[in-house]
Amino acid sequence: MENIIKPNIIINNDCLETLKELPDESINCCVTSPPYYGLRDYGVDNQVGREETPEKYIERLVEIFAELYRVLKNDGTLWLNIGDSYCGTGSKGNCTDPKNPMGRNGQKVSLTHNVAGCKHKDLIGIPWLLAFALRYDGWYLRSNIIWHKGNAMPENVKDRPTRSYEHIFLFAKSKKYYYDALSIAEPAADKKRKRKNGFSGLRNCRDMWTINTVPYKGEHFAAFPLLLAQRCILAGCPEGGIVIDPFFGSGTTGLAAVKNGRNYIGIEIKPENCQLAKERIGGNGIEIVQNITIL
Ligand SMILES: C[S@@+](CC[C@H](N)C(=O)[O-])C[C@H]1O[C@@H](n2cnc3c(N)ncnc32)[C@H](O)[C@@H]1O
Repeated sequence: MENIIKPNIIINNDCLETLKELPDESINCCVTSPPYYGLRDYGVDNQVGREETPEKYIERLVEIFAELYRVLKNDGTLWLNIGDSYCGTGSKGNCTDPKNPMGRNGQKVSLTHNVAGCKHKDLIGIPWLLAFALRYDGWYLRSNIIWHKGNAMPENVKDRPTRSYEHIFLFAKSKKYYYDALSIAEPAADKKRKRKNGFSGLRNCRDMWTINTVPYKGEHFAAFPLLLAQRCILAGCPEGGIVIDPFFGSGTTGLAAVKNGRNYIGIEIKPENCQLAKERIGGNGIEIVQNITIL
């Protein structure tokens, strides 16, 4: 008998533990944004992003996404939003900043201040380290979408440009996979090309997406914009399918799924965030559970 998961639930647990409970080939698509390396402290045990070194962080994510690989249908895709970190950002060494004793993001001492092979001020290159590690692990690396933030936050730097983008890597489990190009096609600039590609007035979506960040009042974590999650879901998950987000946060992926006729499974380690996500997606009808339910 085929295992069917009960969707539209939030699971309050460690994502690796939960993914291990899910049946093989049961999910259509994953849209997610793991905590960035060494940036924030979410104040919960076993959280991702607080590993001692970037290598350990990447190893851990590779293990989590290997479990996701098993759980995805063979034509499934993973849309992975990831940003970079600088070596030595945050507080300096063991001296805490007297103005922010818990650090700007709730961390006393920056984890990025000692990274093998990097000098202070070097960009670590986390997104590509992770992309190559996942490709090596068997994923098809299909696209590096640049999420350009039209309203990027100013940075207090005068010796490099201000950062204004993050990566969204599109990975596939197989060579051929579900991808609805038309659902995210763009208006065509040139009329001749319009007719040729059969999209009638549209052209294939480009790999740079300009989408503004949306401030989220609830907590001090980085939620990605609804529009961003929506684009990934439209292209990566058929209507009525299931989208999973193992780092659910405030539940943007779930909200985008529901708004677009898809189902979702959210995994989130922090109970307060599960509650936030529940309220954001629709309140009372949504269950927060500790374990997956197989029907
Ligand atoms: C960058 S935030 C995700 C934000 C989300 N995309 C949104 O739009 O709200 C990362 C989330 O991963 C959660 N997290 C960290 N470690 C985890 C783990 N081991 N298992 C499940 N969730 C985890 C954090 O609590 C945080 O809410």
